[in-house]
Amino acid sequence: MRIYSRIIGTGSYLPEKRLTNADLAAELAQQGVETSDDWIVERTGIRARHFAADHQACSDLATEAARKALDAAGLAAHDIDLIIVGTSTPDMVFPSVATMVQHKLGTAGCPAFDLQAVCSGFIYALTVADAMIQSGSAKRALVIGAEVFSRILDFKDRTTCVLFGDGAGAVVLEASGEPGVLATDLHADGKYKDILCVPGHVNRGGILGDPVLKMDGQAVFKLAVGVLEETARASLAKANLTDADIDWLIPHQANIRIMQSTAKKLKLGPDKVVVTVDQHGNTSAASIPLALDTAVRDGRIQRGQTLMLEGVGGGFTWGSVLLRY
Ligand code: UT7
Repeated sequence: MRIYSRIIGTGSYLPEKRLTNADLAAELAQQGVETSDDWIVERTGIRARHFAADHQACSDLATEAARKALDAAGLAAHDIDLIIVGTSTPDMVFPSVATMVQHKLGTAGCPAFDLQAVCSGFIYALTVADAMIQSGSAKRALVIGAEVFSRILDFKDRTTCVLFGDGAGAVVLEASGEPGVLATDLHADGKYKDILCVPGHVNRGGILGDPVLKMDGQAVFKLAVGVLEETARASLAKANLTDADIDWLIPHQANIRIMQSTAKKLKLGPDKVVVTVDQHGNTSAASIPLALDTAVRDGRIQRGQTLMLEGVGGGFTWGSVLLRY
């Protein structure tokens, strides 16, 4: 009998501090940086984002989301035998956020590691956890996407600093005879490293290079709309399903225009797309599990429905997970 991995609980966490576009525009104006609610809404669909408090690290956000996912699954931390955190904004160079989450949850022993695929981080992490469950090396995995992108933004660069927010989302995946994850599809192409990157890094006791996010927005936009359609189609083909079988599209939440374009290509109406970018901004690896948890908790996503999760981000990396919820 085939072993599937099934989502048995979801959770998410947003830091308390919420800034509307007007709040952010007012803060930026004090530094001579000009932007407006109108520009941000029209070009991105973003209306607000959350920023972590100074004392909060990525592992704090991840742990909050993990606790909620465990509660939803009716499990305790010691029931988990694998922890993977998708993140590009870890607390430290090492150890991993995943080992910190493990400790903060009060458990020990199971494998725990981070997976760095920027905004595709959760899709990559879910795919790896699914493979480990299918192979029998794990039975109950905690898969988390968590980011504090506010720490790597250049607040003098209006083309990027208005786009991102902080947050975390998590799922508990369990081995099951019933689907479950139906198909996964992952890709990367390293030649695009310069269009979305944080070039700075730790070097001999200092930081070498600029440790803030750099993005060629238009180049990323163009690539994103192409690969998101391709990867969705690849997952559908692997599962012998078609566009019409998708109940909910849960795309990476970067820009409403990219999401609408993907939905149109997949012949899905706006009523089939989970949108949280308006309230969360782009939370990178956290955006998909945050959107998933939002729609599970408000009752839109129901058991038995078919979900298409897909992401794209720095690297370039992209991929999708098609699953029966
Ligand atoms: O998570 C990883 C994936 N990331 C993405 O998917 C991001 C993909 N890219 C995008 O979402 C869009 O390209 C952006 C939202 C980043 C930019 O939108 P755009 O429609 O491509 O705008 P643009 O870069 O062509 O800029 C248009 C104008 C420029 O002014 P000029 O040169 O036409 O005078 C910019 O200087 O808008 C100006 N601008 C702003 N104005 C007010 C750029 N940022 C701002 C701002 N406020 N924050």
